[in-house]
Amino acid sequence: MVRVIYNQWYVVLDSKEIKREKITAVKRLNKDLLFWRDNSNQIHCIERTCAHRGADLALGKIVNDHVQCPFHGIEYDGSGKAVLIPSIGKNGVIRSNFKVKSYHVDEKGDFVFMWFGEERKDLPEIKWLEGIDETFNYSSLADIWPVHYSRSIENQLDVSHLPFVHYNTIGRGGRTLVNGPIVEYKDGIMNVWVNNVSDNGQRPLKPEEVKKENCIGRLQFIFPNYWQNIINKDLRVVAAFVPIDDSNTIIYLRFYQRFLKVPFIRNFVTKISMPFNKKVLNQDKRVVITQKPIKSELRMNENLYQGDLPIIVYRRVREELKKSAKGVSE
Ligand code: FES
Ligand SMILES: [Fe+2]
Repeated sequence: MVRVIYNQWYVVLDSKEIKREKITAVKRLNKDLLFWRDNSNQIHCIERTCAHRGADLALGKIVNDHVQCPFHGIEYDGSGKAVLIPSIGKNGVIRSNFKVKSYHVDEKGDFVFMWFGEERKDLPEIKWLEGIDETFNYSSLADIWPVHYSRSIENQLDVSHLPFVHYNTIGRGGRTLVNGPIVEYKDGIMNVWVNNVSDNGQRPLKPEEVKKENCIGRLQFIFPNYWQNIINKDLRVVAAFVPIDDSNTIIYLRFYQRFLKVPFIRNFVTKISMPFNKKVLNQDKRVVITQKPIKSELRMNENLYQGDLPIIVYRRVREELKKSAKGVSE
């Protein structure tokens, strides 16, 4: 059991964490999973406990694109079915209960996605972040936060924390007054246009009074767990908020850019900007890990204001998606 939205494609890993002929064992969505890449580059994901006598398959190895248990050598394919039980021989009949749970996995944008939901004939397509393609290059980092993933998501949708949490980095300039923001939601994708300004005694504009062209940037969030900050057409910060369990989240952060044309300089600039991005993320972490309770709810003991609209919409949509998956969730 894990408190997340069912029937969704979750980002679970960075593609480069999964190598051919090698087992990658991680906990995601409160499950002990292992991943590997077969010789046709296809990724597979199964649970880690052997169906024979419970050994950890993560200690095994990849043999002929299958996972071989370290204990008695049973081999499992990507669907989790045992395909060889050495002690009964190559021609032995394998009972159908020699099976571990498997998950559908796929890749997009160098992330590994896992379908956490009911078995369906046609799974929905994986959505991707607007405008990000191979014309960009990026560098990345990963960091574990001791929070429910919803808190780390809400932090990246929070437009009024910038001048405080990031007073000496991205929040310089003291733009403490929050106009709007404009929040739009459609088909699993949320967009937030940010219009923070200096406080000269004026009242903040209502979302409907804000003009998109006057906004300083746009945040885009795709349910259930990935996001980008569209700084401009050539500069993006991307994050995936991956639930390890109900109280730990691994954040994959990437800095994308394409404003520099020379590949060498481009790589260099992307790389050297990472310490700055890490600093910004740590500024967030310092505060977010103190929030109580660890998981947010639609109705809870918090007092929200107009600038929190993206958080309210996030919670509302999450609730709706959870409801529509009800009855089939684990
Ligand atoms: S415990 Fe895995 S093969 Fe026996
Ligand atoms: Fe922040």
